Amino acid sequence: MNFRIPFSGRGHAYVKSEIDAAVEAMHAPLSLTQNKYKDEFEKKFSEYVGSKNTFAVNTATSALELSAQMCQFEKDDEVIIPSHTYTSSAYPFLKAGAKIKWADIDLDTRVVTKETIEVCLSENTRAIVVPHLYGFGAQIDEIMRLVEGSNIIVIEDAAQSLGVRVNGKMTGTFADFGVYSFHSHKNMTTLGEGGMIATDQIKYKELIPMLRHNGHCNFDFERENYWQPAMGNVDLPMLNNVPIMPSNYCLGEVECAIGVELLKRIDQLNQQKRERALYFIDSLAEFDQLDFHRVDSDRHNYHLLVAMDNSGKRDDFIKKMALDEGIQCVVQYYPLNRYDLYSKMGLGEANCQNADRFFDNMISFPFQHMLTDSELDQIIEATKRVLKKI
Ligand SMILES: Cc1ncc(COP(=O)(O)O)c(C=O)c1O
Repeated sequence: MNFRIPFSGRGHAYVKSEIDAAVEAMHAPLSLTQNKYKDEFEKKFSEYVGSKNTFAVNTATSALELSAQMCQFEKDDEVIIPSHTYTSSAYPFLKAGAKIKWADIDLDTRVVTKETIEVCLSENTRAIVVPHLYGFGAQIDEIMRLVEGSNIIVIEDAAQSLGVRVNGKMTGTFADFGVYSFHSHKNMTTLGEGGMIATDQIKYKELIPMLRHNGHCNFDFERENYWQPAMGNVDLPMLNNVPIMPSNYCLGEVECAIGVELLKRIDQLNQQKRERALYFIDSLAEFDQLDFHRVDSDRHNYHLLVAMDNSGKRDDFIKKMALDEGIQCVVQYYPLNRYDLYSKMGLGEANCQNADRFFDNMISFPFQHMLTDSELDQIIEATKRVLKKI
């Protein structure tokens, strides 16, 4: 189907300084990976989010894979994950040997809360994944207080929430690990793929670069000749005296060069999205069939703009928006337990009534940063027409 306004997988356009930075990195007579742009991107990213250590990786999924490996799950260990999130918030933890316990979301904020996590805790809980879904910062400070003093590892999935603050502190910097995505659709993208993993804990500082890059590291002795016994060492990464196998999750230099530039305007990109979201929501205030989550602060970057339909006519709405108006609304975050992958792994059952109800009634509007003001107005006007019709 050809849409007048599609739900695009492309978030934002690039400005000249970003394109120039990419071209400069392409021309630089340096390796196109693991070089100075990576170092600069990591330094600037650490400063931006306020984390001691951040490590660039090729995707947020890789950052989640690394986090899951570093949890070092043992038999019967459980990880608490909302059923309402993107699949890679979850499956890396299955691969790493944990059993998933599905947590519910809050119906108004559409993310997990201290309460929805608390009911899933057991003596076997070893990790918790907290996605700041849609770009809204979950109550991560309260969740951290809940597990204080335990040996539970918390992972913030900040894939969608770069630049979002909870009580003044950036999402992704509260927990043991924070992961960020620079995928094509995100508020900031490093040419379609990219990610970052953040941690304040010193024990991961030397480990993560090795895990990310095939176990490469320096020899731990002085060498007379740089090529002897080899150019560099490959060692077995160890955490708590247990080995962890490495991978190659490196992010290229051109992507890192663009990332450095984009960090200069991520606050502006987020602010523009937030202002548009509020304009959109307020323009539809007279229609109480749609429940939006309205947040006028840096707690939300409106990566996505979603509403819950409370009239029971969600599918009719999406169909009319598509067929009568040529506008592609979508539904997102199929409860993970309903996917074949998870049900085939014995995880098909979940007691997550809010997640189910939200998914079954939710609408995600096209909201890429690249939309023009006129297109945004066209979506609003079309929404009004369709709501009046149904
Ligand atoms: C909540 C969430 N977690 C994880 C990911 C994975 O990010 P990436 O595509 O960079 O691997 C995404 C991206 O779609 C996401 O939205």
